Amino acid sequence: MAYQCPLCHLPLQPYAQQWRCEQNHQFDRAKEGYVNLLPVQHKRSKQPGDSPEMMQARRDFLDAGHYRPLQQQVCAMLEAELPPDAQALLDIGCGEGYYTAAIADQLKQSRAMTVYGLDVAKVAVRYAAKRYRQASFCVASSHRLPFEDNSLDAVVRIYAPCNAQELARTVKPGGVVLTVAPGPRHLYQLKAAVYDDVQLHPEQDEQFPGFTRVRQQTLAYPMTLTGAAALQLLQMTPFAWRAGDEARRQLGENGLACETDFVIRLHQRQPAV
Ligand SMILES: C[S@@+](CC[C@H](N)C(=O)[O-])C[C@H]1O[C@@H](n2cnc3c(N)ncnc32)[C@H](O)[C@@H]1O
Ligand SMILES: [Zn+2]
Repeated sequence: MAYQCPLCHLPLQPYAQQWRCEQNHQFDRAKEGYVNLLPVQHKRSKQPGDSPEMMQARRDFLDAGHYRPLQQQVCAMLEAELPPDAQALLDIGCGEGYYTAAIADQLKQSRAMTVYGLDVAKVAVRYAAKRYRQASFCVASSHRLPFEDNSLDAVVRIYAPCNAQELARTVKPGGVVLTVAPGPRHLYQLKAAVYDDVQLHPEQDEQFPGFTRVRQQTLAYPMTLTGAAALQLLQMTPFAWRAGDEARRQLGENGLACETDFVIRLHQRQPAV
């Protein structure tokens, strides 16, 4: 199992410091070890995905362990679901690699697996590849996955956009997609600090054509955040766009007691008939 050329869809082979296809399309391996498989003509903006500031805030927040229970539950679920002969897992929208690396550490203990992380933001992939050697990282868009048909045992998607057709194309029959989405009360108090009128997060019953939802778990726990952590959390979320100076000052001075509420779902690709 290897990458697929984003230009002609033939397999890519490693060759010195490059990945190449038979049509001689070439993609350099960066010194940090990742490969950029997002051709300029597929880019929708100059710097797609999360900004360096969002990425750094997320890394600092995750490093402090506030989402560790989620990381552990995702790893435990994949450990329980994936067969011993699973070969490849892809983390879509992997960001700076916090979940990707933990998943690789967990699954590779008893499986000969390659764990891939993919993100459209080059800065995030560079950070991920530099820190985590246990996974293979690439820059690409979830709308065009650089993987062959029926080649992935599992895809993980934690708060990132994805394309249902691409999931159905790349996940093996019987393989799984694990998603994490916000439950109704997720970050309620952070929203209350930013908005006058707080809405509960609407419950979305996401379905992927060609997949059957086989499991659903929830995870909810309180966090006590320092001022710095509260501002990092704000910076990681879309609420940052709406937060005024006063809301930021209060969060920074007082910190925040805040609920988490995650919904973790497992969708299984229907077996081939
Ligand atoms: C909210 S972050 C989540 C990152 C990581 N999964 C986590 O939870 O820490 C969403 C990520 O998706 C990436 N992203 C946005 N659009 C994307 C796309 N079309 N293809 C791949 N990644 C994308 C962003 O760059 C960002 O790293
Ligand atoms: Zn090619």
